[in-house]
Amino acid sequence: MSQQQTSPSSSVQEFAKHAHIDYIQHLEEKEQTTFEYCVTEHLRMSGMYWGLTGMDLMSESSKMNREHILQFIRDSYHADVGGFAGAPNHDAHILYTLSAVQLLVLLTSNIEEFLTLEQIEKIGEFIGSLQKEDGSFSGDKWGEIDTRFSYCALNCLALLGLLETCSNYRGDKINNKKYINVEKTVDYVLSCQNFDGGFGVCPGAESHAGQIFTCVGALSIAKALDRFDHDTLSWWLCERQCENGGLNGRPEKLSDVCYSWWVLSALGIMDRVHWINAEKLHDYICNCQDTEKGGISDRPNNMVDVFHTFFGIGGLSLLGYGDKYGLKTIDPTFALPIDALKKIGIETPYTQRFDQ
Ligand code: FPP
Ligand code: ZN
Repeated sequence: MSQQQTSPSSSVQEFAKHAHIDYIQHLEEKEQTTFEYCVTEHLRMSGMYWGLTGMDLMSESSKMNREHILQFIRDSYHADVGGFAGAPNHDAHILYTLSAVQLLVLLTSNIEEFLTLEQIEKIGEFIGSLQKEDGSFSGDKWGEIDTRFSYCALNCLALLGLLETCSNYRGDKINNKKYINVEKTVDYVLSCQNFDGGFGVCPGAESHAGQIFTCVGALSIAKALDRFDHDTLSWWLCERQCENGGLNGRPEKLSDVCYSWWVLSALGIMDRVHWINAEKLHDYICNCQDTEKGGISDRPNNMVDVFHTFFGIGGLSLLGYGDKYGLKTIDPTFALPIDALKKIGIETPYTQRFDQ
């Protein structure tokens, strides 16, 4: 059992759905003048993905300003390189390119309503240009390597129908062009696995639940889940549950709501969510809510933000509280609702399990 943290509230709360809908719906207008809003401008694209996906999981995405988001995506596109930035006038980056494509999957009935086939191929080329000889990926032209970027590359190509390992592959439309080397991508991700079963940011780096999500997610998209031992990793992941019910990201760290996603998603991909005590984690997440103004924070009584709000909702969905609270089922590999993935023809073991 990891480091303990006392919860200030012993009374168990229910998920405050309506408050969260109100919180996300009014985020833009409420926060534009704050210091926090200004210093997070460079990652606004991901902020929109967290907000819209959170709303979609609560079946309230129609309350978001669709045209505003689409215009923001248009203004953040770099036609010369084929990638998207976190906000207009910033550089293109693979993280925000994935967020932009995820937003488009949610906002369009077919991505070709918004992007031409040439633009889709250009995004594929941007992602391909970031792969190194050893199979790793940098996030942008500046070259930092991170297993997060391997996941972003595979996820983004898959959503666009440019990945041969996925059911929605549009090979006939693109002359079967390969944008990345999938085998090398898989070998590199596997080289980041440690003796404890976890994965790190690069070979030899400490196991970290955030990186584990990206590595297991990458291997899931590449259909390479049979290439590592699930039991050792699942033990490490379920040891992340603290005495207070919350999950941490590494041994001896405090619990944090976002790890409800990073840990549970990896366990979900390996079909082992039940290795976590769901009731205790539910209570921890609900104790981190602002039940009046809405939003979820990292720890009880801290400031709420859209990042932890989304990952708290996603965590409750993965734990199986969808029926109780009217939440859609989220896919742990792609971090999107499964109805959105079905719409674009993507099947995962998880979407198939929920088909029955
Ligand atoms: C912890 O970060 C989380 C990670 C390292 C994984 C981040 C993954 C992505 C950005 C890929 C895209 C994600 C989705 C859901 C589509 P942290 O910096 O908060 O870690 P810390 O708790 O150690 O500070
Ligand atoms: Zn966090």
